[in-house]
Amino acid sequence: MSLSHLSSSGGGGGGGGGSPSSPGKLKTEKHHSHNPRLLLLRLKNHSSYSKLTLYSLFGVAALFLTLFFLSPSSSNSIASSSSYSSYSSSFRRSLRTSSSSSWGGSEWEKKVRSSARVRRADGLSVLVTGAAGFVGTHVSLALKRRGDGVLGLDSFNDYYDPSLKRSRQSLLDRAGVFVVEGDINDSPLLRKLLDVVPFSHVAHLAAQAGVRYAMKNPSSYVHSNIAGLVSLLEAAKSAEPQPAVVWASSSSVYGLNTRVPFSEAHRTDRPASLYAATKKAGEEIAHTYNHIYGLSITALRFFTVYGPWGRPDMAYYFFTKDILKGKPITVFQAPDGSSVARDFTYIDDIVHGLLAALDTAEKSTGVRGKKQGPAQLRVYNLGNTSPVPVTELVSILERLLKVKANKKVVNMPANGDVQFTHANISLAQRDLGYHPTTDLKTGLKKFVKWYLDYYNPITYKTSRSSSS
Ligand SMILES: NC(=O)c1ccc[n+]([C@@H]2O[C@H](COP(=O)([O-])OP(=O)(O)OC[C@H]3O[C@@H](n4cnc5c(N)ncnc54)[C@H](O)[C@@H]3O)[C@@H](O)[C@H]2O)c1
Repeated sequence: MSLSHLSSSGGGGGGGGGSPSSPGKLKTEKHHSHNPRLLLLRLKNHSSYSKLTLYSLFGVAALFLTLFFLSPSSSNSIASSSSYSSYSSSFRRSLRTSSSSSWGGSEWEKKVRSSARVRRADGLSVLVTGAAGFVGTHVSLALKRRGDGVLGLDSFNDYYDPSLKRSRQSLLDRAGVFVVEGDINDSPLLRKLLDVVPFSHVAHLAAQAGVRYAMKNPSSYVHSNIAGLVSLLEAAKSAEPQPAVVWASSSSVYGLNTRVPFSEAHRTDRPASLYAATKKAGEEIAHTYNHIYGLSITALRFFTVYGPWGRPDMAYYFFTKDILKGKPITVFQAPDGSSVARDFTYIDDIVHGLLAALDTAEKSTGVRGKKQGPAQLRVYNLGNTSPVPVTELVSILERLLKVKANKKVVNMPANGDVQFTHANISLAQRDLGYHPTTDLKTGLKKFVKWYLDYYNPITYKTSRSSSS
């Protein structure tokens, strides 16, 4: 049974057949009509289009590309400092943002303010980084629903299909959440956002996720999880007022720890992947900013989060895709033949935990970048406390999809995944009132319903109405 498919971190990269060997491999079939190459081919074959029309199209495309590459904001999103030069070219090659970003101007500021406006007494105003991501979307929607002000920030990179991020953005847009397109390494943008809105909190979820992808593109982890985190904390410590920061660490920090269930008091100095090492480094960096500048900071160690609008690089997601297509799925087992298991945590439970962390976060104490007194520094596990073997995950999916999986069981390669995750959540229970309520079967049922609806809305709705 596979662990490598179930990254402990939610990093997920699934190996075998479904894993992303490059970001492009994760692209889904939806929205292929936007492929400009296909569009041009179709145009070429269409007799009613004159050569003149084609030349004009190429001219416009060339002008657009020139403007894109000359635009300062497009390069911003990759690296704003020369210190990134050693890895910036590979980063550019492998993780592109899906369109050029631009920000500033009075209309833009109006949208930023309106999105971040608090609509309930004592509500929070929250900057959510990674808002077009899986967890970020759910967190932003939940905050907006209860009347908090929310502004999103996301680079829309193509680690996995950006069209899924765009669909999440549309969902957020309909709920009144504006997502600014930009990179957390873009310090002028961060300063501007924190200047326009006196955010009370930052929910920092932007990161390079995935365990196995670190072997393909290590720089992207340094870029987002280390340089990006420092850039964010720099902006937060200089802001007036300093916001409280709640951010996503990961269960992967437990690495080679064998004591179970994993408790916050256990060792986290033996990471098994670069992803885990960058999250662990993030926890140490957070300590520094808390210590020197008085920033109130809470790290949440998520355990394999799943659910609707999830991440296509995670096992439950690409197993579903491959089972439906009749493609074989690769299920890893530990070298000694023992089970691989994950403490799968449903997205709604994670959202409750994260909102509770925001609600209980004390204010930062710094003024004009200077610490005025001790500030809160917390770390919590957010898991489900009931690890499930990967083989059981596959069986549940088979029942829900009514399709037998074609399983290939192989030994887990040494790629950074760990064999087992299991959260001790007593600290989060005590301080955050965190009580996960969704078991894997119930949560997967909701995921599968969403998946069928998202990728095949017509067939799914027709078959449902004819069977009801
Ligand atoms: N999903 C899980 O199981 C899980 C488990 C443990 C930890 N986490 C952590 O939780 C957070 C959210 O994870 P997710 O599953 O929603 O992942 P995700 O990839 O869906 O979301 C992350 C978002 O951040 C954006 N992003 C990445 N780098 C950026 C940058 N430099 N600037 C701006 N935006 C950037 C991406 O475009 C993406 O939309 C991450 O920090 C992840 O490491 C997730």
